[in-house]
Amino acid sequence: MALIFRTDAARAAAWGEAFKRQMPALDLRMWDEPGEIADIEFALVWKPPRGVLRTFANLKAIFSIGAGVDHLFSDPELPEGVPVVRMVEPELTRGMTEYIVLHVLRHHRRQREMEANQRAEKWEMISVPTAPSRKVGVMGLGELGGAAALALTALEFDVAGWSRSPKEFPGVECFHGDFGMDAFLARTEILICLLPLTAETEGILNAELFAKLPKGASLINAARGGHQVEEDILAALDRGQLSETTLDVFREEPLPAGHPCWRHPRVTITPHNASLTDPDGAVRQVIENIQRIRRGEPPSNIVDSKAGY
Ligand code: NAP
Ligand code: GLV
Repeated sequence: MALIFRTDAARAAAWGEAFKRQMPALDLRMWDEPGEIADIEFALVWKPPRGVLRTFANLKAIFSIGAGVDHLFSDPELPEGVPVVRMVEPELTRGMTEYIVLHVLRHHRRQREMEANQRAEKWEMISVPTAPSRKVGVMGLGELGGAAALALTALEFDVAGWSRSPKEFPGVECFHGDFGMDAFLARTEILICLLPLTAETEGILNAELFAKLPKGASLINAARGGHQVEEDILAALDRGQLSETTLDVFREEPLPAGHPCWRHPRVTITPHNASLTDPDGAVRQVIENIQRIRRGEPPSNIVDSKAGY
């Protein structure tokens, strides 16, 4: 039994160390040196090149290094019948919660404007409301969106969430489905996207959606670039329909030189690092799942391949 893994070069050593510490006997194969293909039963991957996973004929599970699995389902040759397991890992959730709280507070307290004033040596009294009178809305109430929504309620923001199926979270006004979307948007001043990228959610952050928000609302997208129509975001900013946006993800990554978002005064950019999977926690989850599979049990956090998340 062997596990093959593929991550970015900068973090490969940390993953290797985590496996050595936690499962020293594991036959760990690097992507570029797969050895005997027939031995490979597990793959732990981020953005594998299309068509390669299907060449591992004895694969029992595909583990995603990230929470998102769109990088796997975009492979038209993804082997059928092999369970795909997404990453659910406490430090990944914690990192995203920190990111969302940071940027919600920045938008809420108009921090970007105050930083611009500092650069201009301008002393302008900007008054901001307190959290209970600020309406925040989280699209996606899963592992990450749910934790972010709860952290925002702890700060006493007026929080709502939107998901595909009905949900209940203490202190969060929950909306769901197409039916609940307009009411959710109409009350949302700071909109956060933590949806998975699927056929249903591709391009969801568009002009039509922005028009349903109160004028001057702001947007934080820490999910996927494929959710956003970047021209519509820029147009909404220029019209004042959106007051500002924080974008961690883009349709093209790295964001190319000269892209209008780089220099837009009301766009904050982070380089798809809202939250990174912690190798130690992730390896723990992978080992638990390998043990489950060996006992004949299904792995936990298996993805619904029809829904795509
Ligand atoms: P998750 O646990 O699978 O939760 C997804 C949530 O989205 C669920 O509440 C789901 O509704 C909802 N949803 C899915 N399709 C929907 C639709 N068509 N309409 C309305 N709601 C829909 O996912 P997660 O672990 O929270 O991760 C979310 C995403 O964050 C990932 O897919 C990834 O793309 C992104 N991410 C980004 C970073 C970063 O650094 N930028 C890091 C980690 C993850 P139900 O509850 O009804 O199923
Ligand atoms: C990162 O983008 C992830 O999906 O975990």
